[in-house]
Amino acid sequence: MDRSRLDQLPAPLLDWYESQRRILPWREEPTPYRVWISEIMLQQTRVEAVLPYYERFLAALPSVQTLAQAEEELLLKLWEGLGYYSRVRNLQKAARLMVEQHGAAVPGSYEELLALPGIGEYTAGAICSIAFALPEPAVDGNVLRICSRICGDSSNMASAAVKKQYREALRPLYQGVKAGDLTQALMELGATVCLPNGAPLCHCCPAAPFCLAHQLGQELDYPVKAPKKPRKVEQRSVWLLRKGEEVLLHRRPDKGLLAGLWELPNTLAGETLPFPVENPKDCGKAKHIFSHIEWHMQGKTAEISREIPLPEDWRWVPLSELRESIALPSAFSAFAEKL
Ligand code: ADE
Repeated sequence: MDRSRLDQLPAPLLDWYESQRRILPWREEPTPYRVWISEIMLQQTRVEAVLPYYERFLAALPSVQTLAQAEEELLLKLWEGLGYYSRVRNLQKAARLMVEQHGAAVPGSYEELLALPGIGEYTAGAICSIAFALPEPAVDGNVLRICSRICGDSSNMASAAVKKQYREALRPLYQGVKAGDLTQALMELGATVCLPNGAPLCHCCPAAPFCLAHQLGQELDYPVKAPKKPRKVEQRSVWLLRKGEEVLLHRRPDKGLLAGLWELPNTLAGETLPFPVENPKDCGKAKHIFSHIEWHMQGKTAEISREIPLPEDWRWVPLSELRESIALPSAFSAFAEKL
C-alpha cells in the first residue's frame, strides 16, 4: 500500500485548521490535566454532548489531587448522562496512580500514559501531542477514515495491524510542526469535513487536491470495515416500585455493564425479582442502545405496602435523594421521569 500521499497533508491541513478550527474549551488552555479530562470525555461522545459537562467537572475537580480524593457519589453525579461510567472510575484510578507515582501530575511520556487505566493508544497519542507537543499521532476511526480516502486504501480499517501501520505512517509528519495542532486538525477534519455516514464535504477539504478517493469519485467506498457483529437485544422489565415517597433501587455488580451503579430494578424476560410484587401495572416502554447490547424495556409499576426482606445491594431511597445525589444511568431516564 502506498501511503506517501499522506506526506502532502500537513501544510494545507494546518493552514485550514488555523482558519477553520472551532473554539473549544480544552483548546484554549491545553494543560495536561485539562487535555486528559477532555480526551476521556470525548471517547465515544460528541463534542456538543461533552461541552456542558467539561467546565462543570473542572470547576468541581480542578486538579489530579482533587480528582484522586473525590467522593464516588460526586464523580458519578458529574458524569451522569455521559454514559460509559467505567471512564470516570478509571479517571479516578489513574489520578490516584498519578499521586502515588508521578507527583500528582499527568505524566508526559507515551509509555507512562499507556500504563494508566482508561488510556489507550489513541488517548496516549492525543495527550502527548496536544499537552506535551510530542510527535505522537492519535489514530482513531476518524483519522483512519481520512487516511483511507486520501490513500484509496481498501484494507480493513477495523484491524489493529492497519491502525498501527497508519500510526507509523503519520509519525514522521509530526516533525517540524506543532504536534497538538496536527492531531487536532485531523480530528477537526474528520468531525466537520471528511464525514462518516454520507457524503463528505470535499469542496471545502484541504486534502481534496491529492485525495485518491476524491479523484476517483469513490469517497463513499472508504473506509472499508469488516462487518460488525449485530448487537444483542434483551427484553427487560423495569420496575418502578414505590413505598410512599421512596423508590426501590438496586446496585449493579462491580463488573460489567454499568458496573457498580444504582439502577431501577430490572429483569430479563423469564427472570423474577427476589421478592413477590402484587398487581404490577404496565407503565410505558423505552429502548436504550449500548455499544454491544440493546435493551427493549417495559416499565412495570407497583406500590409495595408490606415489608419485604431486602437482599444486599437493594435499598429504599427517598425520591428527593434520588434526584439530588444519585446518578441513575440514562438507560432509565424515560422511567425515572415517571417517578
Ligand atoms: N475528539 C477527540 N479529541 C478531540 C479534541 N481534542 N477536539 C475535538 N474533538 C475531539
